[in-house]
Amino acid sequence: MGQKTGSEQEHSEPIYTTSSFVFDSAEQAAARFSQEEQGNVYSRFTNPTVRAFEQRLAALEGADTCVATASGMAALLTLCMSGLSAGDHIVSAKSIFGASRILLGTQMQKFGVETSFVDLNDLDAWQQALRPNTKMVFFETPTNPLTEIADIAAISSVAHDYNANIKVVVDNCFCSPALQQPIKHGADVVMHSATKFIDGQGRCIGGAIVGDTEFVGEKVAGFMRTAGPTMSPFNAWVFLKGLETLSLRVNQASDNAAILATWLQEHSSVEHVFYPGLLDHPQHQLAQKQQSKAGAVVSFKISGGQDHAWNLINNTELMSITANLGDTRTTITHPYTTTHARWSEQEKLAAGIDQSLIRIAVGLEDPHDLIEDLHL
Ligand SMILES: Cc1ncc(COP(=O)(O)O)c(C=O)c1O
Repeated sequence: MGQKTGSEQEHSEPIYTTSSFVFDSAEQAAARFSQEEQGNVYSRFTNPTVRAFEQRLAALEGADTCVATASGMAALLTLCMSGLSAGDHIVSAKSIFGASRILLGTQMQKFGVETSFVDLNDLDAWQQALRPNTKMVFFETPTNPLTEIADIAAISSVAHDYNANIKVVVDNCFCSPALQQPIKHGADVVMHSATKFIDGQGRCIGGAIVGDTEFVGEKVAGFMRTAGPTMSPFNAWVFLKGLETLSLRVNQASDNAAILATWLQEHSSVEHVFYPGLLDHPQHQLAQKQQSKAGAVVSFKISGGQDHAWNLINNTELMSITANLGDTRTTITHPYTTTHARWSEQEKLAAGIDQSLIRIAVGLEDPHDLIEDLHL
């Protein structure tokens, strides 16, 4: 899928940096605009490089179709704007990426859409939060930053048993389709921040929505055509190159993360390690069932609070102090004061994000060099 050679017989896809496309005649222009004839029109909603990326990501996720977006957050916004109207209701996990929580909990409220937040692993809470006007159920697995694992099949069943029309949306950013395909477990839609593992080398911002022809192919694509939070052809080209090495990178980074997590667990100044590959992770069994590996993100709490956490972060040389993740080069961050800084104190503490927490998104370096870099 998405692997076609053009008239120049090129091996690597060309980048179609064109805003619009030329028609053979006024009749053809009219047929393309009315969608009687398939083909390129205008790069806000039809671009061959972006389409190649969409087709390949859909194939990797085991889905019918995909709509690429300008960022991961644009993917979530596009999903909300395509699937929801004033008066509708979302049920979301509490532990989600900081900006996703603000978008669902605050921004969508301005348009008359209410969101209830529940504990990721409390199936009764998911059940009880559902209402006749619930249209979307949303969660990440593993979560950012505490790597909690949601039971995709169980939450999807609870939602679909209540109302088969509810869209169960999974943010698959932390695993990528290399480790987990949520649609196979019962979810309806997968969203991505392509910025992370799909790019893999921290170059471009992008996102994607993957799912069926009826919702993603029509409603989401229709919103994209009108509103235009579009992925650029250049970024699509970078992500296409990323997809070619996705599985190799994510599998190796996950193996490296497992070595680092095991080492951290043994260290006396580490209070707790959050990594689904460890036997003491509360959803270790579920992670083994749902994912092919535990993933590349390891979080841990260090004794001595924020001073010690910042000190450890500041003393690293190999790791980059940055909020991005999914890079071939390891990144380290302090979620309390960065990715989750806009949450209230109460929200952060309820989610288990305190001053002692550090998140490492492991890359492809030798894991023993990473261990040395931590100066613990
Ligand atoms: C789990 C998760 N979802 C969504 C996003 C948002 O993606 P983007 O930064 O591409 O808008 C992020 C960004 O860090 C993330 O970690």
